[in-house]
Amino acid sequence: MDNRPIGVFDSGVGGLTVVNALSKVLPKESIYYVGDTARVPYGNKSKSSILKFSLQITKWLLKQNCKIIVIACNTASSLALSYLKSNLSTSIIGVIDPAIKYAQMKTKNKQIGVLGTRATINSNIYSNRFKELDQKISVISKACPLFVPLVEEGFISGPIPLSVAKHYLNDIRETDVDTLILGCTHYPLLATIISNVLGPSIKLIDSSLATADKVKSMLKNNNLLADKNLSEINCYVTDYTKTFNTTVDRFFKSNINSIKKIDVF
Ligand code: DGL
Repeated sequence: MDNRPIGVFDSGVGGLTVVNALSKVLPKESIYYVGDTARVPYGNKSKSSILKFSLQITKWLLKQNCKIIVIACNTASSLALSYLKSNLSTSIIGVIDPAIKYAQMKTKNKQIGVLGTRATINSNIYSNRFKELDQKISVISKACPLFVPLVEEGFISGPIPLSVAKHYLNDIRETDVDTLILGCTHYPLLATIISNVLGPSIKLIDSSLATADKVKSMLKNNNLLADKNLSEINCYVTDYTKTFNTTVDRFFKSNINSIKKIDVF
């Protein structure tokens, strides 16, 4: 048994979708969440910047004695997970592989769509991974760079996100995709809009739920589950603004114990 916190990070507020899922499947755990609000968005940045930011935050979380690191960001998972795994001797998990596993289970016709940031889509990580798993799976990817600022600004319903979603999803609508990975942790907050545009026949895969299940099984298999009822979520940001607070209040009412500013660079 291990009562140390689970460390989670993302570029901003989106990774809280993973925290929400974690607190549902692992209600006893203490979670330390870092939102890199000073440097959001990651999706339009270079690989070297994303590696540097991810390393700084992971090191900070390890200093806080976290027992496992969850990269709650598809962009950082695409570009930094293998680097962090090979350079740090700690358990680290990203959001890509859990989502891939769920999508592979759900698809009936092996036509899978992936939405993500520019950096995630340009990394080709999803198509490469699916190819390794099953040559017959075909992947249609689409970068949706405006989705992150919409979510960060709280535009998750109404005509503005709807018209942006229509613009991005037209290509997907014209395919036979039956399963669509929301390949950015901000996107589950736009799931209703995305479903409205694509219709109910396309199954949406939320990587936060898939990742939380994977974290649970990793902790269980390694005897690292908390045995005390810690149940707390402490949130740390690299730049503190009232906007972040408002967004957190609006979307994540579930017991966030504190929000503090930290320096990681
Ligand atoms: N939420 C992140 C992701 O999953 C990052 C979005 C961004 O910062 O551009 O990709």
